[in-house]
Amino acid sequence: METLQWQGGVDGHLVLIDQTKLPERCDQLACTDAQQVWEAIKWLRVRGAPAIGIAAAYGMVLGVRQHTSLDRTRFRQQLAEVADLLASSRPTAVNLFWAIRRLRACAERQASDVSNRAIVEALLAEARAIHEEDRVMCHAIGRHGAELLEDGMGVLTHCNAGGLATSEYGTALSVIYTAQDQGKRIRVYADETRPLLQGARLTTWELMQRNVDVTLICDSMAAQVMREGRVQAVLTGADRIAANGDAANKIGTYAVALLAQAHAVPFYVAAPSSTFDLSLAAGDQIPIEQRDDEEVTCGMGVRTAPRGVKVYNPAFDVTPSALIRAIVCEHGIIQPVNASSVAATVARK
Ligand code: MRU
Repeated sequence: METLQWQGGVDGHLVLIDQTKLPERCDQLACTDAQQVWEAIKWLRVRGAPAIGIAAAYGMVLGVRQHTSLDRTRFRQQLAEVADLLASSRPTAVNLFWAIRRLRACAERQASDVSNRAIVEALLAEARAIHEEDRVMCHAIGRHGAELLEDGMGVLTHCNAGGLATSEYGTALSVIYTAQDQGKRIRVYADETRPLLQGARLTTWELMQRNVDVTLICDSMAAQVMREGRVQAVLTGADRIAANGDAANKIGTYAVALLAQAHAVPFYVAAPSSTFDLSLAAGDQIPIEQRDDEEVTCGMGVRTAPRGVKVYNPAFDVTPSALIRAIVCEHGIIQPVNASSVAATVARK
């Protein structure tokens, strides 16, 4: 089953795996309008930076295709409103804004005498292109990143940067899948990833589907696992990477990077070029999503803290580039990680 799928032509719809139901159920969710896509992104039915971008691209199509009878000025306004709606769903993953910008630019490029319907067709083609490019980028990330892994290694990962977070193959997990395809035996330690348990619910499920040797640990066990010498590399995805290589990823990633440094374990990030935000000089400018208290006090529907307790729930943190041994993107391996190496690999392609 695909993470995201567009079924039909311009009158078709988007079908998503509802990731909030995994691993117990693998339900599909059909989105027929932009509001449903907004809701699916906001509540993490579709999540992971590249997957959010792809969903938003299709959401733009869904948001304008009923409005082809409007005059061009009002059609453009509708497009802008849908873009604003989708952009308000989640703030950190830059792929969302990147995809929306691409769709808007695509609409702008259309000649003034083409019909609104033809513009919607062009938008669908652009969304499909973003989807397909992501597949290609993820496979390339896997090929480059697999060079970093050797037979017999233990690899710790945090959150889910696999097929569920992208078009199909993943970023960090693509590296592991490719290494395994090359015959390397890789043992994965998956952090459960509090508070929403993407590691426990999604990463272990996905790795088990692909017959990768995976062991689930609580986030608090990572230091012990490193001290015992069970992992030789840490590999995570990213939601936004600043021009100097600072990388935002799921809350807890920074702590893992600090632990990796303390135990001399290399910390690697894998992400496509759509995750780089070269307009931001450094990671302290990356907006960090704050989410509901209930995710911490009542995760998975079970109350684990007193009602009324004060909660702080940032969904992401930023790992400084100094802690990142290398970033793997579709163009190759960025190492050392700094503003000039990022620019040389990402900006000039
Ligand atoms: O809140 P989420 O589940 O969308 O957070 C996802 C992550 O932090 C992933 O690690 C990141 O998007 C990389 S996806 C290839």
